[in-house]
Amino acid sequence: KQGKKDRAFKIYGLARDFYHFLLTKEIGIGAIRYLESRNLTDKTRETFELGFAPLGWDSLTGFLTAKGISGEELTKLGLVQKKESGGYYDRFRNRIMFPIWDNQGRVVGFGGRTMGEDNPKYLNSPEGEYFNKGQLLYGLHIARKGIREQGYAVLMEGYMDVVSTYQHGVTNAVASLGTAFTRDQGKILMMYTHDVVIAYDADTAGIKAATRAADILQELGCQVRIATIVGAKDPDEYIQSHGLEGWQSIIDHAMPLVQYKLLQAAQKHGLQNAGAKQRILREVLPNLASVASAIELEETVKQAATVLQVNWETVLEEIKKYKRNSR
Ligand code: UTP
Ligand code: MN
Ligand code: MN
Ligand code: MN
Ligand code: MN
Repeated sequence: KQGKKDRAFKIYGLARDFYHFLLTKEIGIGAIRYLESRNLTDKTRETFELGFAPLGWDSLTGFLTAKGISGEELTKLGLVQKKESGGYYDRFRNRIMFPIWDNQGRVVGFGGRTMGEDNPKYLNSPEGEYFNKGQLLYGLHIARKGIREQGYAVLMEGYMDVVSTYQHGVTNAVASLGTAFTRDQGKILMMYTHDVVIAYDADTAGIKAATRAADILQELGCQVRIATIVGAKDPDEYIQSHGLEGWQSIIDHAMPLVQYKLLQAAQKHGLQNAGAKQRILREVLPNLASVASAIELEETVKQAATVLQVNWETVLEEIKKYKRNSR
């Protein structure tokens, strides 16, 4: 069993090496140009082991079968696909390749970005024995050190956000591989820190997903803040125009989850009367009830009271009531 696993990791590693090597070749010039157009340096290409999957149908297939690895096995690993007529062809073609690692830094799959307008924008490895989107955090083995040093992690949406912000000095960021953050991912992240800033994209999908991810993390006992990216669509774009200093101010202004939700609810319902305040408070009661630390709870209760313009004792009373009723 272990032998089979090691063999899979070895094959994914060979695929990574193959794609990465092609960046240095004539055939990879278009890919290098694309990466340059995204302002990524060669050092960044090395750190994140970026690569290029060529347009041909059997580049990787040919390379790996020549090493004695069967098409059947490569199909199981999600690297090639079986033709109806028999034979195999490369899954990833004409794409920038982002290796995706498990927590130990072993490659377990890939995200392949089109350099044009192809759909999907990112073609990922299929879900399988080794590649489980819901249990992987992109860049974690690289960010581990930065998370430890800075005492918190930043959660982003995309590969590009992690890669590009790292290049600018943000060394504590990981990506959830899209917007659907899972409890498993939360548990993994919390093996490294109990303090997370969520910096998802500024669009509606990103905002919705950020709140959902935040709820999951808070429920697991994590301290969560939500950052708001202003004037750019995601962390990559933001840091390109505002640099590390600008990024730091985004982090400094990140809002504790409860406060974030209160302000959103206050915008939605208004604060005119007791009924509106009641509705607003109701939206954050589950969060208030699950705040893990007493100090954080006291602070959060006070913040909530300020937003609602009521006494903090009132908020505390409502939390108690909520807890009694949800038992
Ligand atoms: P985005 O859709 O936000 O990427 O996807 P983007 O910011 O516009 O484009 P780039 O990355 O700057 O070029 C964010 C993440 O969602 C997942 C990927 O993990 C991606 O990094 N995603 C997105 C997919 O898996 N498939 C897709 O087709 C799109
Ligand atoms: Mn290299
Ligand atoms: Mn997005
Ligand atoms: Mn982007
Ligand atoms: Mn994005």
